[in-house]
Formats: sequence, C-alpha cells, structure tokens
Amino acid sequence: MASVEKPPTVKAFSWRDHGARVLQFQYEVYERNFAGFRVTPAFLNDYERQLRQALRNPFEGLWVLEEEGVVVGFVWAAVMTTLVDERLGYIKNLYVAPHVRGRGYGRRLLATAEDWMRALGCPRAALDVTADNAAALALYAGAGFTIVRHRMEKDLRISEEGNRL
Ligand SMILES: CC(C)(COP(=O)(O)OP(=O)(O)OC[C@H]1O[C@@H](n2cnc3c(N)ncnc32)[C@H](O)[C@@H]1OP(=O)(O)O)[C@@H](O)C(=O)NCCC(=O)NCCS
Repeated sequence: MASVEKPPTVKAFSWRDHGARVLQFQYEVYERNFAGFRVTPAFLNDYERQLRQALRNPFEGLWVLEEEGVVVGFVWAAVMTTLVDERLGYIKNLYVAPHVRGRGYGRRLLATAEDWMRALGCPRAALDVTADNAAALALYAGAGFTIVRHRMEKDLRISEEGNRL
C-alpha cells in the first residue's frame, strides 16, 4: 500500500516530546551565530532550564514543526516590556533542520509566532540576527522586518606582541 504523506504541522512545544531534539538544534543556532562560541553540556543545561521556565510563562510562546512525526523546526517568541515598549514581540530563536530548508518552514514558524504576538497585543515585533547570516536576513526581510539599529562590536584583546588582534 502506498504510504500517505502527512502534511507538516506546527505544534505547541512540549518538553517531553520535543525537548531533546530542540536542544540538539542549539549547536548550530549558537555556533553559527556567535563566532567562536562552543555549545557545552553546561550551556545545554542552562538552555533546558530556560525552556522549562518559558513553558510556565504565558508571555513566552514555543512551537515546533513536525514532518512525518519528526521535529524539523523550532521557534521561540516572547512578549517583552521595555522602557519604550509596553508590549514588544521578540523572536528569541528560530531553527529549521538543514535537510528541509528552503521549503517555507522558517517563514511558517515565524508567521505562527507573529500571529501569537499580535493576539497578545504587540504592535511591533523585533529580533536580532547576525550580520553575515544571509539566509536568516533574507527570510526576515521577506517577512517585512527592516533594520532599525546596528549593533557594533570590537575585539578588545591585545596580542602578545602588543598589537590589537
Ligand atoms: C534561517 C532559517 C530559519 C531559514 O529557514 P528555511 O525554512 O530554510 O526558510 P524558508 O524556506 O522559509 O525561506 C523563506 C525565505 O527566506 C529566504 N531564504 C531562506 N534561505 C535562504 C538562503 N539560504 N539564501 C537566501 N535566501 C534564503 C528566501 O527569501 C526565502 O523565500 P523564497 O523561498 O520565496 O525564496 C534556516 O536557514 C536556519 O535554521 N538556519 C540556522 C539557524 C539560524 O541561523 N537561525 C536564525 C537565527 S537569527
């Protein structure tokens, strides 16, 4: 009998069903986006603690995308209060597994988070993205995000010869 393909579905994140896989995603998310950073067991423990806390917070929203019963994507959003925003939607984490990229799953996860933020009364959404992450930049630009601020960094270390690195 021919197998029937199930359409990919977005589901609420549960620690029990999706936690281990979402933790694995963080190797690429963090090592790709923070030059020189290495994901360690201690980092993953912290990340797990934050995920579990987020699950108890109504102002944090977490979803996975499943394809054929396998978790292939993840998005984590939050509603934040800042000095200038009473309610700002913020995308904390977005990931799509390499073998299913380019199928619109990133766009779909982002739209899920945006719908939730809008329903919670956020007039705007924001996120941080690494300057050389072309795929993410293109996804966000295509979804209507624009650059409103540049974050600049400088290497402060000095080499043994006394030169700036
Ligand atoms: C960024 C990421 C989430 C994109 O997921 P994806 O499912 O491949 O993205 P989509 O298929 O939904 O693409 C949506 C749009 O993004 C753009 N895009 C996606 N991948 C791209 C690439 N490699 N190069 C250029 N544009 C790209 C395209 O404009 C695309 O629209 P189109 O299909 O109409 O051309 C995925 O590459 C990823 O998980 N990267 C590693 C983790 C990461 O860096 N996350 C972002 C942290 S800020």
